[in-house]
Amino acid sequence: MRAINLHDYERLAAERMPAGPLAYYAGAAGDERTLRANCDAFARHQLLPRVLVDVSDVRTATTVLGTEISMPVIVAPTALQKLAHPDGEQAMARAAARAGTIMTVSTIATTRPADVAAAAPDAPRWFQVYVLKDRGVTRALVDEAIDSGYDALVLTVDAPRAGRRERDLRAGFSVPPGIDMPAVSAALGSTAGIDAAGFFSLMDLTLTWRDLEALVEQSPVPVLVKGVHHPADADLAVRHGAAGVIVSNHGGRQLDGVPASIDMLPRVVDAVAGRAEILVDGGVRRGTDVATALALGARAVLVGRPMLWGLVCDGEDGAAHVLELLHAELSLAMTLLGAATPDAITRDHLAA
Ligand code: FNR
Ligand code: LAC
Repeated sequence: MRAINLHDYERLAAERMPAGPLAYYAGAAGDERTLRANCDAFARHQLLPRVLVDVSDVRTATTVLGTEISMPVIVAPTALQKLAHPDGEQAMARAAARAGTIMTVSTIATTRPADVAAAAPDAPRWFQVYVLKDRGVTRALVDEAIDSGYDALVLTVDAPRAGRRERDLRAGFSVPPGIDMPAVSAALGSTAGIDAAGFFSLMDLTLTWRDLEALVEQSPVPVLVKGVHHPADADLAVRHGAAGVIVSNHGGRQLDGVPASIDMLPRVVDAVAGRAEILVDGGVRRGTDVATALALGARAVLVGRPMLWGLVCDGEDGAAHVLELLHAELSLAMTLLGAATPDAITRDHLAA
């Protein structure tokens, strides 16, 4: 039977993935408290419908940084997508294009930015930037992305080192032979047998707000900052030129024990006070989670692992189906909430 929700995809993917890649995709840091908190937190934010609202024409379409998308759901950057399916990031790009939304391509992708763009040339796309010690490699990747028509840069700031990924340790995960990461190869020469700690060793730990400011000044496209928890950092991100802030704890893969990202969202929304667009990721598995995030002030959400589960199960079609399921669930949630558009979803739609 075909998956009917994102939880089905997680279960089906786990049944078919080898232990190492499954550990890398599913795993998180330490005792995985934040991984669990990300999903569990949504249950604490109860939705409150309004009735006798005309919902004969519910539309999920919205814009993020001026880019029109079919729904406030964006594909999060996730590394190593050829571990999921031989078509990897190119299949993900085609799936996001079919769904009418943005794919965020990771620096630690298994496909070059230009080749991902070529897979769905007319689709909106963002490039996620890890600033490597070898700044020349980062510069070249960013230039390739810009030249390939990427619409924004997403600077990830919560991963100077890898969190303690104990599932990887238990499974002895390393990147299988034959899977290349162009950025890592450019920086190291080879990716054979590298593990997460290996590609994280490339990161530049000296990064400060001045580097964000420089990236913004050099970029012809908007820059978002991904991996913000603290309201004061959201304020600093805006002050240093960020057009968007993504409230995220990296799916619990970095510092275990931080709050669920959905719980940090309201304080970040208050701190940014409309000066930038705010997105959130972590634990989004249902259309009602998307509605909850919007009610708490997010412009849109990003989805990570469920997109990988879809890719594992059925390549481009599986990833596209995950987005179809989220779209159908969000449309139904909006109808039952009494909200005909994403902008109509407000804190008034929350019980507390
Ligand atoms: C990630 N994430 C991530 N983030 C980023 O900025 N660059 C990256 O290369 C990756 N790689 C990556 C790989 C895997 C296997 C996972 C699970 C996650 C984090 C990702 O963008 C996002 O923040 C989380 O995945 C969101 O949580 P959910 O949706 O997975 O619960
Ligand atoms: C990870 C990095 C690649 O979470 O973002 O594995």
